Amino acid sequence: MAHHVLLLPGDGIGPEIVAQARRVLECLIEHHGLQMTMEEAPFGGAGYDAEGHPLPESTLEKARTADAILLGAVGGPQYDTLDRPLRPERGLLGIRSALGLFANIRPAMLFEELVESSTLKSDVVAGLDIVIVRELTGGMYFGQPRGIETRDDERVGFNTMVYSESEIRRIANAAFDIAEKRGGRVCSVDKANVLECSELWREIVVEEAAKRSSITLEHMYVDNAAMQLIRAPKAFDVIVTENLFGDILSDAASMLSGSIGMLPSASLNEASAGLYEPVHGSAPDIAGQDKANPLATILSSAMMLRYSLGESALADKVEAAVKSVLAKGLRTADIATDNNAIGTRAMGDAVVSELQSIGQ
Ligand code: IPM
Ligand code: MG
Repeated sequence: MAHHVLLLPGDGIGPEIVAQARRVLECLIEHHGLQMTMEEAPFGGAGYDAEGHPLPESTLEKARTADAILLGAVGGPQYDTLDRPLRPERGLLGIRSALGLFANIRPAMLFEELVESSTLKSDVVAGLDIVIVRELTGGMYFGQPRGIETRDDERVGFNTMVYSESEIRRIANAAFDIAEKRGGRVCSVDKANVLECSELWREIVVEEAAKRSSITLEHMYVDNAAMQLIRAPKAFDVIVTENLFGDILSDAASMLSGSIGMLPSASLNEASAGLYEPVHGSAPDIAGQDKANPLATILSSAMMLRYSLGESALADKVEAAVKSVLAKGLRTADIATDNNAIGTRAMGDAVVSELQSIGQ
């Protein structure tokens, strides 16, 4: 049966980079026997423009029935003055929550061809291959109560970091599943020296790890983890952490890999239906200029083929095509070290042409 994929180009550079990923997928359909249909729907600021809401009902309906979703990016300065519930970011939080996408998988790996693009010394990052597993539907992002209210004649803002045992158990196990296919080492990141929420987190993660002889578990406070990520990132294998800590650590980790423009991500629910998106944002400053790096989105489509569509062999092909394009020295502006950067579309062309020549 043919897979059905929903594309959500979104805002800023989103439409340009998703267009390149779409061409890559079309090439797989045409030359490599992939059976798949695709459709697009408005989302984020584009959802607000089209339907008055960042997550239009019709888009959510399509998302529920698709086998997987490929998202570009959301947000832009023109939406910053909207009421909070109408802002593009709310569309993203809304779809994560509505589809129960609790496991956010963010690999940070460095293609050897890009060792010079990282701001860190090459011996610190060469060969880097770590995965951050971020809890995505709980914690501070969704906890109640939250708000801004007046107390004693002044306004106070407040949010709640809250995790139930079952939420911790399922993200711990998602991380262990991934670790079992890699080095088997998991570092759980928390702030258990200060937060009760983290105290429970640590207790439950320990309990779950005890059920798996293949897992070596260690714990690290989030401040130290931020430091170790920059000091000796290769010491990590899999990091598992709560939503807000994962948001911050995954941006930090992205810089290890040369450019945030290279990093894909997957957000999975219990049914392994998933949403795939680049880690970077909508970059409104370069939108529409054919400057954005489409590789994070193309690599996200590879993750989609592997995790949601059961097409690992095709995922390997896409990743191999990206690797050979980099080996040929092709670079978009964000990863270029001299001034002969190519554009978004030319990068897409290069990946497609590699794919056409890779054995069918
Ligand atoms: C991310 C982003 C989002 C988040 C924003 C856009 C809501 O930073 O996916 O990391 O904070 O989760
Ligand atoms: Mg973020």
